Amino acid sequence: VEKTKVKDFIHINDFDKETIKKILDRAIEVKELIKSGERTFQPFKGKTLAMVFAKPSLRTHVSFETGFSLLGGHAVYLAPEDIQMGSREETRDVARILSRFTDIVMARVFTHKDILTLSKYATVPIINGLTDYNHPCQIMADAITLIEHLGRLEGSKVAYVGDGNNVVHSWLELASLFPIHFTCATPKGFEPDAKTVAKARQAGISKIVITNDPKEAVKGADIVYTDVWASMGQKEEAQKRRLMFKGFQVDQNLMDLAGSNALFMHCLPAEKGVEVTEEVIEGPKSIIFAQAENRLHAQNAIMLHVLGE
Ligand code: CP
Ligand code: NVA
Repeated sequence: VEKTKVKDFIHINDFDKETIKKILDRAIEVKELIKSGERTFQPFKGKTLAMVFAKPSLRTHVSFETGFSLLGGHAVYLAPEDIQMGSREETRDVARILSRFTDIVMARVFTHKDILTLSKYATVPIINGLTDYNHPCQIMADAITLIEHLGRLEGSKVAYVGDGNNVVHSWLELASLFPIHFTCATPKGFEPDAKTVAKARQAGISKIVITNDPKEAVKGADIVYTDVWASMGQKEEAQKRRLMFKGFQVDQNLMDLAGSNALFMHCLPAEKGVEVTEEVIEGPKSIIFAQAENRLHAQNAIMLHVLGE
């Protein structure tokens, strides 16, 4: 494989703290520019982004497509049935073909191995738009949301309640660079990957607590965060999981335990009345739409970084 590219965006902790800080600062800067109506900043002019989806999406699809075109580029959407990665087309061939046509590739896949294969065989930057293992673009957007709503990222307490999977793993990636207090409460058997937890703890930067007690986890939290109990690819387990996750719903009682300043976040899409009550997600402490908007701005800065702009 001839490799000429320098950068992918696969895990937040593939980078050092300074680089991630620079990307976050740039995101806020470009956000202001875009929101001011300024349209002369066109760094992606003449460039093409391929967006590969093996799973559904609203936010990731629209934010990458609009972000890339707002900054002058052209984005191509590839639905799951277009490529049929792994059956109609080998994953490594997807990487080699798209590298001939495009300047940058964003991919949302099932197994994490697929994003690593794309990265290995592509000669253009690969951005991880979610795998079963992690969701780095989401947590970059969430970091901006914390900076905007709490005035800081460092020292904030984030309490995640629910399934210890992809979103949690990316919080742990962030926690290995920036000092936060991250607590994660899951039912037994749904804890985050032990190696990922150990690696984040070894970094020695953040206070990391993994527990099966949601009430304990949320005490004093600045942010109470949850995600669906059945992720994409697990929807047939939804009924079973509802029983197993009993007691882990974010409701007003849990928010009250967190304290009167606690804000509610959710990466969306949400199942209202399942992992979170309608009262909380639609309530005054919920910042889900500001959070979703920051996907656009985080990703613009990530793309600027990997394209060396
Ligand atoms: N949060 C998130 O990634 O949303 P989509 O699945 O709609 O892209
Ligand atoms: N954990 C969820 C996140 C969706 C953005 C999933 O993987 O489906």
